[in-house]
Amino acid sequence: MRKPVVAANWKMNGSLELCEHFSCELVRPEASDVWIFPTALHLRSLVDSFRESDIAIGAQNVWCEPEGAFTGEISARMVKNLGGQLALVGHSERRAMFGDSDTVVARKFKSIADAGLMPVLCVGETLEERESDSAFEAVQRQLNAVEEAWDCPDYSHKVIAYEPVWAIGTGKAATAEIAQEMQGLIRDHVDRRDSGEREELRILYGGSVKASNAAELIVQNDIDGFLVGGASLDVDEFNEICEAVKS
Ligand code: PGA
Repeated sequence: MRKPVVAANWKMNGSLELCEHFSCELVRPEASDVWIFPTALHLRSLVDSFRESDIAIGAQNVWCEPEGAFTGEISARMVKNLGGQLALVGHSERRAMFGDSDTVVARKFKSIADAGLMPVLCVGETLEERESDSAFEAVQRQLNAVEEAWDCPDYSHKVIAYEPVWAIGTGKAATAEIAQEMQGLIRDHVDRRDSGEREELRILYGGSVKASNAAELIVQNDIDGFLVGGASLDVDEFNEICEAVKS
């Protein structure tokens, strides 16, 4: 039985006041994991607030190296040192706006795992790729790039988030059928390596998840939770999503 996850991706939003508000109002999870990915500037505040709880805090992005002359960057080792437990990698906004190629994503992924954090690998196709029937090819290419760059491909203690680019921030979530179909294919892809991780690996769905669509998505076999952007900035809405995942 995979433990469900509800993860908040705050993107370049939030403030110390929002951190404080979440620390007061977020309902502590019972049967699911709750993770928050604030900006790097707000990591410490959330780590401190949730120190005594099961809620884990992660970074939205890190650079590939543990330290060095990389002005403006942070490393997975630094996130770990602050008390962070996870990091996102390969989010489509990073791929599209900040030039994170498959190769860079693979290097970042490895640096996160090497630092002892849990990487959450985001994959997903563009609208063009979906409309030209090459959605799975695109996702497979993103998965292969990471697996190839990795000495010992192994998904234990790692998470995949399927986030179709056309569903992110558009208000148009994938239907439960579309999300389930792709996430089933992702699970089969992982299974082909026959490493026994099939049943263990948690695959999240992300893209316009809200309190109103969480219940129908979470009942799908291969949807093990959510990566929530916009709706995660409102603690009441986020609590409702957590509630839908629990029940
Ligand atoms: P959204 O973003 O929920 O606002 O669509 C999800 C994400 O980008 O992780």
